[in-house]
Amino acid sequence: MNIDIINNEMFNLDETKEALNFYPSDLIDVLKFHKSLGNIQTPLIELNELSKELGVGSILVKDESYRFGLNAFKALGASYAMKKEIEKNPNIETFCTATDGNHGHAVAWMAQKLKRKAIIYMPKGTAIDRVNAIKSKNAEVIVIDEGYDSAVEIANRKVIQGNRNGNGSWSLIQDTAWDGYEKIPLDIMKGYWTQMDEVTNQIKDKKIDLIFLQTGVGSWAASIISYILNNWDYYPLFFSVEPFSANCLAESIKAKKRVKINKKESTSMAGLDCGTVSTLAWKILKNSISSSISITDSFTEEAMRVLSKPIKGDSKIVAGESGASGLGALIALIKSNKFYNNSLNENSNILIINTEGDTDKINYKRIIKD
Ligand SMILES: Cc1ncc(COP(=O)(O)O)c(C=O)c1O
Repeated sequence: MNIDIINNEMFNLDETKEALNFYPSDLIDVLKFHKSLGNIQTPLIELNELSKELGVGSILVKDESYRFGLNAFKALGASYAMKKEIEKNPNIETFCTATDGNHGHAVAWMAQKLKRKAIIYMPKGTAIDRVNAIKSKNAEVIVIDEGYDSAVEIANRKVIQGNRNGNGSWSLIQDTAWDGYEKIPLDIMKGYWTQMDEVTNQIKDKKIDLIFLQTGVGSWAASIISYILNNWDYYPLFFSVEPFSANCLAESIKAKKRVKINKKESTSMAGLDCGTVSTLAWKILKNSISSSISITDSFTEEAMRVLSKPIKGDSKIVAGESGASGLGALIALIKSNKFYNNSLNENSNILIINTEGDTDKINYKRIIKD
């Protein structure tokens, strides 16, 4: 079991605020659109007994396993970006993306609603449950023999090829940005705002001190932060969480520039298994993350068990490997006493987001039985 924490020397929220392009009219559009899709607010669950046991003020868990019946939060982003794409170009016939699972499931779900085709590229080693969830939405799934970053490149090439005849019938819905490809990932990030809008209403007057944000390419964390910096009148601390084997944000914060990583080890936190931070996300995260945490899989697995078999009085939460990693990092920090200081103490109100449920049911059962 291992944990590493990097304190971000670039931390400066004023710089982040300058990098943001937040328009209240966009938020209204996003909320209206999700309402039209039948969105139901996901629960915010307070774990009173666990917070006593861990010695913190309170632990609130936003449970995204309930989102749209898809077991993860991702459809908030993909659906909004796809609606914007179709509005711009009704000739789109095929949506294409690369995914570790949840984003592709969301694209396939929305493509079905829009009566369009979906082609989804997935990295080697993808769990069969995650492939089948996407196939159940009538999408074509191609599991490649390489990792996530290569899947993104292949999906991008496929769309460029598809559009060679000039009719624009293919659309790449990727949840990461790079130079020259930022419009769609930005719409995806805007789509995630609904989640934090719900949390803002659910916490009422409670003041949150610390938020754990698990990051793959960083789009989701950057979206949460952009919402808060524009809509709250105080700012909590933001801690990022990654698996050691794919901690591209931690390495970038350490290097003070975006770096690509390619480590040999693997992780069960499939949704976080990415080697490069999104360019758009980096603009926001580089100055707003105060500490960047890397953990081994053992901590997220411990958190999954804690949530699945709660202390008497707390509610049960079904959390997948990436979903439980925020709590995994909190447990890891508390176990290694040296991080128990001003920013994390017995008064801290902590927000954790369970970003997915048991998206790999076989692994989930194995882990909670351990
Ligand atoms: C369950 C889950 N949590 C968190 C993330 C991280 O989101 P992002 O890649 O935008 O950092 C993902 C990404 O796929 C995910 O599937």
